Amino acid sequence: MGPSLPQGAAGRPEPDRLDYNHRRWMKSPQALAETRRWAAPGSKSAALFAQAQGVMPGGNTRTTVYMAPYPPYAASGDGCWITDVEGDRRLDCLNNYTALIHGHAHAAIVEAATRRLALGSSFPLPTPEEVELATLLCERLPSAERVRFTNSGSEAVMMAIKGARAWTGRPKIAKFEGAYHGSYDYAEVSLSSAPEQWGSLAAPASTAYSRGVPPAVLDDVVVLPFNHSELAVARIEREAKSLAAVLVDPIPNRVGLIPAQRDFLRALREVTAAHRIALIFDEVITFRVGYRGAQGVFGVTPDMTTLGKIIGGGFPVGAVAGRAEVMAVFDPTGGKPAAPHGGTFNANPVTMAAGLAAMRLLTPEAFARLDELGAKLRGSLEACFKHAGLPGAVTGQGSLFRVHTTDRELIDYRSTRTTPEEEARLQRMIRGLMERGVLMSITGLGCLSTPMGDAELESLTETFAAVLETERGPR
Ligand SMILES: Cc1ncc(COP(=O)(O)O)c(C=O)c1O
Repeated sequence: MGPSLPQGAAGRPEPDRLDYNHRRWMKSPQALAETRRWAAPGSKSAALFAQAQGVMPGGNTRTTVYMAPYPPYAASGDGCWITDVEGDRRLDCLNNYTALIHGHAHAAIVEAATRRLALGSSFPLPTPEEVELATLLCERLPSAERVRFTNSGSEAVMMAIKGARAWTGRPKIAKFEGAYHGSYDYAEVSLSSAPEQWGSLAAPASTAYSRGVPPAVLDDVVVLPFNHSELAVARIEREAKSLAAVLVDPIPNRVGLIPAQRDFLRALREVTAAHRIALIFDEVITFRVGYRGAQGVFGVTPDMTTLGKIIGGGFPVGAVAGRAEVMAVFDPTGGKPAAPHGGTFNANPVTMAAGLAAMRLLTPEAFARLDELGAKLRGSLEACFKHAGLPGAVTGQGSLFRVHTTDRELIDYRSTRTTPEEEARLQRMIRGLMERGVLMSITGLGCLSTPMGDAELESLTETFAAVLETERGPR
């Protein structure tokens, strides 16, 4: 069962004794056993989904977590493991879509959140915790001189865009084809453009994501090709007079989790600075790639940054950070600000306390270790594709990885969009992993957490190889 550890009241190791080697105690001999019970008729998950269908559209309240015909329901999480309501345990390689960088129920985070919860969970007054977390973010993030908190990454993106409009007095934004930035109408434009809608690479079409989007929204979003510096810069220059912001995710998941080329980000920095357009980095996911975020890794500093996920320690959160001069649009001390920003639960102290605990655990050494594990994993998964003789690639950076079922060169949204055959193979693989004790996103996205070590990576790689073996069929 692994080394014996001093146990806390909840039967978990004491927080100060949780080092990486000790995490291995969580791995039991049943790890990566078959986990198919949720799919059987009469399972608890099937019953819950049937009940859910009567009270929620499609039985669902978060499109992202739907999987056909229905998902397993989670009962609990501990470290890098999730147990479903059938009692089956899976290695969690998704971590609530990259939010849980320390996995589930980390003792230090549980302790910080419950201590704060016992003192009251929300107030019509600010609390000391928001000042502490904002201070930590300003110390770490090159672009952050001021911070405002929101309850989600979507809200953070919305506020950053509204802030940029207020700062520049201009109406339009530019964003990249295929990139996801949450559910604000403007940020959703051209998120899932189909090939027949694409238009030219020099001027990708603005397409609606949900039906009924007002045409004015599409008119006010300029769509750019990711990682094509010259084309993007030329289009920004043509639209500069009406552009408030250029919004870019430096490693956009829906654009295949391909890191931006450094020169591409530099070109965006130069052209936006020349025209006083706000450069916004969406680091809702990528803040997990380095102590100073992706902007620290790439050495390019935007005017504003949107954050979410890891900074809340597993609780709902978002934040907009930026240069003091830009962020002044939110400042209420001189009367109504240029961009007023409210929110009943903004900076709620339980999230702030959990976020502080999570961020303090993320030392430069913790990032270096995640980087090493991530590089090793991407390499071994690619080797599995080669060994199986199947087309495949693994993109990503740091603790992030994404599996592709193609050998095409992957550079932008258009090259990463799957063909129906590639998509069908990806779905069979993700389902195969799900049935063998590994949880990943149906898009092929995965990420690591600090409780993981070599043993978990080996189990994951072995399971991945076994799934590819079934894809290859008899030789
Ligand atoms: C890059 C990026 N921006 C924004 C968001 C929206 O964040 P939230 O789901 O917290 O609203 C996400 C969510 O996955 C994201 O990946």
